[in-house]
Amino acid sequence: MPRPFYVTTPIYYVNDVPHIGHAYTTVAGDVLSRWRRLRGDDVVYLTGTDEHGLKIKQAAEAAGITPKELADRNSERFQETWRLLGIKNDVFIRTTEPRHYRAVQEFLQRVYDAGDIELGTYEGLYCVACEAYYSEDELLDGLCCPIHERPVERITEENYFFKLSRYEKRLLDHYEAHPDAVQPETRRNEVIGFIKQGLCDFSMSRTSIDWGVPLPWDPKHVAYVWFDALFNYCTGVGYAEDDERFRRYWPANYHLMGKDILRFHAVYWPAMLMSAGLEPPQHVFAHGWLLVGGEKMSKTRLNQIAPADLVADFGVDGFRYHFMADQRFGPDGDFSYEAMVSRYNADLANNFGNLANRVLNMAVNYCGGVVPDTREDGPLVDAAADAFARLDAAMDQLDFSTGFAAVWELIRATNAYIEDRQPWALNKAGEATKTAAVLGDCLEALRVVALLASPVIPNAAGELWRRLGLAGGPEDERLPEAAAWGRLPAGSPLEKGAPLFPRLEPQ
Ligand code: ME8
Ligand code: MG
Repeated sequence: MPRPFYVTTPIYYVNDVPHIGHAYTTVAGDVLSRWRRLRGDDVVYLTGTDEHGLKIKQAAEAAGITPKELADRNSERFQETWRLLGIKNDVFIRTTEPRHYRAVQEFLQRVYDAGDIELGTYEGLYCVACEAYYSEDELLDGLCCPIHERPVERITEENYFFKLSRYEKRLLDHYEAHPDAVQPETRRNEVIGFIKQGLCDFSMSRTSIDWGVPLPWDPKHVAYVWFDALFNYCTGVGYAEDDERFRRYWPANYHLMGKDILRFHAVYWPAMLMSAGLEPPQHVFAHGWLLVGGEKMSKTRLNQIAPADLVADFGVDGFRYHFMADQRFGPDGDFSYEAMVSRYNADLANNFGNLANRVLNMAVNYCGGVVPDTREDGPLVDAAADAFARLDAAMDQLDFSTGFAAVWELIRATNAYIEDRQPWALNKAGEATKTAAVLGDCLEALRVVALLASPVIPNAAGELWRRLGLAGGPEDERLPEAAAWGRLPAGSPLEKGAPLFPRLEPQ
């Protein structure tokens, strides 16, 4: 029985259109999902859009359309971008869907019945862009939001409060018992520090707007957008609709996100779930920010980069590879176009692309266009096993860059092996068996490379797979068996072809 593996991205706000920051999280989730599918897990990968709240309402007003029209338009742009980037999500959830309203209302009622929601009056400083209240000492000079650097608004409302303060101890006990529940480690320390400072109840309903999910016991109020948004993760696997499915996939294995929304996921969310008698997520992983010119991308700074613009230059695989290989998944990192060109040329055009071309050309020319029935079983046997073991270990830590670096080590080892054995010289010297044995090893190494690199560069890996004469695609394989040495069938027809990654000229 395959193990369930449920991974999510944040659901993105529809006041914005997709940029490379959103793509960063979504590609990471896709790479992880594809890897887990290869590992034989029963994967559900969820992404979607967050469509309620004041921010969406104001953006719609500014555009002169209804919130629903804005949501329809921009939700489609996210879906389009994910199709472009080869994202294989199993669920795309929109918070305006009827199934989500039903699920949220059932959940709200459970939390209310548990006695964790009480009526009160709230006066506070609210950042519309964050959809969150701040205390004065958290704000920058001039009462500005620390994330958006613009003034917050003073809001007074009668609304319901979620009794978060009751959950301090349970949350601390939970994180004590599950030391890897928040990753990376620095984020865990932040979360624990925050909880230890003491938790305040937070306002979980609004009467000032109607763009949201009405509270079942008091429909003048709509649920605070984060209360509704976080619950998407449960709706997406069948809460209140398909109990068997929900029980199978909940709790989620990983919620992936940027560090901007860690507190919602690692403090509010587990407490909300505990209140309703549901389990908290197994892991929350908060990565750093992708910076452009040293700054976070934002609408106001006009420094957003659209994924489609980079795909036009680098292709889908070039895009995906860059963000997974260039920097560690965790800390902040600077995006630079120049660095993207040089990494593409070094890793994809040179190392990967040239190796594939070289080996296929020689094998077609020297071995009659088919996989030879002999191999040397030389140093690449260990190099291939090592690449798999290191990738496997790194993927368990969501350390994509280290994992794929191990695959690129196998590529370098194969290039070095070719330099050492010189199959062209062996061929010239009439050593047909030795030539075939060396190329047999290289072809086998290419098969392993295609397999292991397929989560990050699915198109090139699939094409290489086909050129090696293999049926289906790498995604039909199962690890660890498929990584075993020697599975490339002798006699398979080989095909040369155009470069998999044409070299780019630096601009
Ligand atoms: O916060 N670098 O949605 P959002 C890296 N709707 N990641 C980035 C990024 C950057 N510069 N910019 C955005 C919301 N992201 C809520 C979430 S979930 C129940 C509700 C990514 O549209 C990163 O994953 O503001 C970040 O956490 C997310 O987009 C924020 O997306
Ligand atoms: Mg945001």
